[in-house]
Amino acid sequence: MSDKARLEINGKFYEFPLVKGTENEIGIDIKTLRSATGGVITLDPGYKNTGSCESGITFLDGEKGILRYRGYDIEELADKADFLEVAYLLIFGELPDAETLEKFHSDIKNESLVDEELKKIIDAFPKSAHPMGVLASLTSALTAFNPSSVNVDSEEAMYNAIVRILAKIPVLVAWTMRKRQGLPFVYGDNSLGYVENILKMMFQKPNEEYVQNPIVLDALDKLLILHADHEQNCSTSTVRITGSSHAGLFVSLSAGISALWGPLHGGANQAVIEMLENIKEDDGDTKKYMAKAKDKNDPFRLMGFGHRVYKNFDPRAKIIKKSADEVLADLGVEDPVLEIAKGLEKEALEDPYFVDRKLYPNVDFYSGIIYRALGIPTEMFTVMFSLGRLPGWIAQWREMRLRKEPIGRPRQIYIGKTHRPFIPIEKR
Ligand code: ACO
Repeated sequence: MSDKARLEINGKFYEFPLVKGTENEIGIDIKTLRSATGGVITLDPGYKNTGSCESGITFLDGEKGILRYRGYDIEELADKADFLEVAYLLIFGELPDAETLEKFHSDIKNESLVDEELKKIIDAFPKSAHPMGVLASLTSALTAFNPSSVNVDSEEAMYNAIVRILAKIPVLVAWTMRKRQGLPFVYGDNSLGYVENILKMMFQKPNEEYVQNPIVLDALDKLLILHADHEQNCSTSTVRITGSSHAGLFVSLSAGISALWGPLHGGANQAVIEMLENIKEDDGDTKKYMAKAKDKNDPFRLMGFGHRVYKNFDPRAKIIKKSADEVLADLGVEDPVLEIAKGLEKEALEDPYFVDRKLYPNVDFYSGIIYRALGIPTEMFTVMFSLGRLPGWIAQWREMRLRKEPIGRPRQIYIGKTHRPFIPIEKR
């Protein structure tokens, strides 16, 4: 195979080198396209064919249903590692040994208080505020309390900013939920594991001891691992592009949280449960909603189905489906909404519209079901996703900074009016 791609524009030929990844993915390196051709660019709305970077963090093959973090299969990591180990792996590239993991955790614990003034900011939000908006604002506000996190010119400064945010976001997540529920803000317990501590901070009641449930702990740990990275998706690209201006880590993450909020991305897990509840209210008529989803004149889509990259079963969905079944059985949850979910899943998997378009249930279809079974309020689902995605966003931001990537600045093809004279207001 040639190692060059040949392009003909207006009778002239141009050659561009091919780049090959370690998993043999091939790209055309068009860095010199504009300068060589005198201004020609590529056009690819939604970036369906465009690589924005070279990355060594996550590999996924949507056709084959493969997902690996730093070379390790997601199935193996979900089964054998815990979330903090996976976070370290994603961010720093290797699985930590026991001593390194211990130090990493201890550094996080040392940063696990947030400035008390932050409570005033949370207080100012109405109780009804969507937790994703609150979390994005608080994450950004953290910069004001930790200004040194912005200048990350050394690896040490970067490390400090990273452990700081890994420590503080769980507190913000818990407080965001507690505010909605009218519960007092509490701090965690540094004697607990990272995820154990998150559960305690979220669910602890002021008048009783919080007892950990190993099934809940295991399910949440797995969910966080499965969400921890997914290469250059909408929110991750947002984090990288925001950070490429050398804005600090915390505000870059805040931008990522905002991008994740949308129902076509992380917000789908909330949208799934809302859709299932609507179907329940509508006498559980799944057939009607299947028909709506297939009707091209109806904007309705079956939430939790389809994926931009996976045109095969999402490997994470397979693991989560199993976990959802276990959690529901172990906790003895009986919920009509979950029955509707099972019915819808079966119908869609057998329906030619969904089969032909390779629309399978995605990770959000099942994660919403588990979060609901764990007693997490629906509006908090995407916040939980943010918590899981945190190490991935950090890893991608760190990689972008270490590789000294240029500021992100796409081009456009202008389709507006050409030059025209100004018309005074009385003549318009
Ligand atoms: N319900 C009904 N039809 C669908 C659905 C759906 N959920 N998803 C895609 N289709 C159809 C489209 O109408 C289109 O049909 P056509 O070829 O006849 O025009 C075809 O399948 C391809 O769809 P696209 O929109 O081109 O696929 P794309 O890759 O752009 O979109 C997306 C992927 C946004 C995830 C889409 O499948 C969707 O909207 N799903 C529902 C929302 C959702 O679950 N999002 C979570 C994604 S996972 C995540 O972010 C973690």
